[in-house]
Amino acid sequence: MVNEQYKGMLSGKSIIRELSEYATRRGEEIGYDNVFDFSLGNPSVPCATSYTEAIVKLHQNMDPMSLHGYSPSTTIPSVRQAVADSLNRRFDMNYGMEHIFMTTGAAGALSHALRAVTKPGDEVLTFAPFFPEYGPYVTGTGAKLTVVPANTEDFQINFTAFEEMLTENVMAVLINTPNNPSGVVYSRETIERLAQVMADKQREYGHDIFLISDEPYREILFDGVECPYPSKFYDNTLSCYSFSKSLSLPGERIGYVAVNPACTDADILVPIMAQISRGTGHNCPSSSVQLAVAKVLEDTSDLSVYETNMNILYDALVDLGFEVVRPGGTFYIFPKALEEDANAFCMKAKAYDLILVPSDNFGVPGYFRMAYCIDTEKVKRAIPVLREFVEKEYPNR
Ligand SMILES: Cc1ncc(COP(=O)(O)O)c(C=O)c1O
Repeated sequence: MVNEQYKGMLSGKSIIRELSEYATRRGEEIGYDNVFDFSLGNPSVPCATSYTEAIVKLHQNMDPMSLHGYSPSTTIPSVRQAVADSLNRRFDMNYGMEHIFMTTGAAGALSHALRAVTKPGDEVLTFAPFFPEYGPYVTGTGAKLTVVPANTEDFQINFTAFEEMLTENVMAVLINTPNNPSGVVYSRETIERLAQVMADKQREYGHDIFLISDEPYREILFDGVECPYPSKFYDNTLSCYSFSKSLSLPGERIGYVAVNPACTDADILVPIMAQISRGTGHNCPSSSVQLAVAKVLEDTSDLSVYETNMNILYDALVDLGFEVVRPGGTFYIFPKALEEDANAFCMKAKAYDLILVPSDNFGVPGYFRMAYCIDTEKVKRAIPVLREFVEKEYPNR
């Protein structure tokens, strides 16, 4: 008999993927240029040339037995050291190589971090709006995901609800800043208050509460906004990073977990993750990709198009009368729909070949997400279509 849990998941496929597949099919019918596909968070700029040069050089010059050999189970020491040095320089931390564990993107990082600090039956808190894949990431470990309702005023944290919901059964709190889907960056004040609440509750309950910080958009920031590094504010932090968006390498599956050196059991968390890796068959990202990213840790692709697109879209949405919080980063924007039912709103938009993602799966009803990691020219062409949609479908707003 097949596994009932996974069988059950077949009927709960990602709406984002379904919409993206629909957009591809529709593109085959009417030409992809005519489909305004804002569904998928797939980077729209090529990977940094420095990455390509680094991996080509490795293939040309490195001993193939080492380049293609198995990675040590705790991942490659020189790579871990390079990541630690870079984080120490950038965020004034004091990581050693022993605190870094290379993973297959942020998904791999989160799966390891969650398993390392929770056991089946524990609760993990996250904040709406949240990346819908947190559902399978957390429930796949046997823990339970509980969602703190959104603060829709500015999409910072709803602290009243958070303090009530941070009960004794919560072993980890999962945050994502800059945030998918809102594009909002948690302010220093938010992170400081979050850290204070968690520290107080740890003391009250007499057990650790880990902060798992999901940071794949850390490099995509607008208007010079500051993105505080959460681990700097709270010792029990595991930072989960991905090069998928910063270097436009989503298919290479590369990221890491950085364990705060002052965290409880900091010296054994990476070896524990290596054991988790063994048990799940993760067994390390590709050796050559680990070695190549280590050469370009502080480089990025040319990410400027995302800010250009955000400004065009934000201004147009405001002009059309949408309620929307201005994103501080990422390549997402999260306006309020023009009717309560975001699914109905997005279905109507589909008739104009505008592919928008309804917000229910992000844990907030009545909003929609636009992923603007597409050509600027297409964003510009989408504005009159958006205007026509709004004027025809919602004439009496
Ligand atoms: C918030 C968030 N976390 C994690 C991930 C997974 O990232 P990766 O592709 O690096 O595994 C994504 C991907 O879109 C994301 O948006």
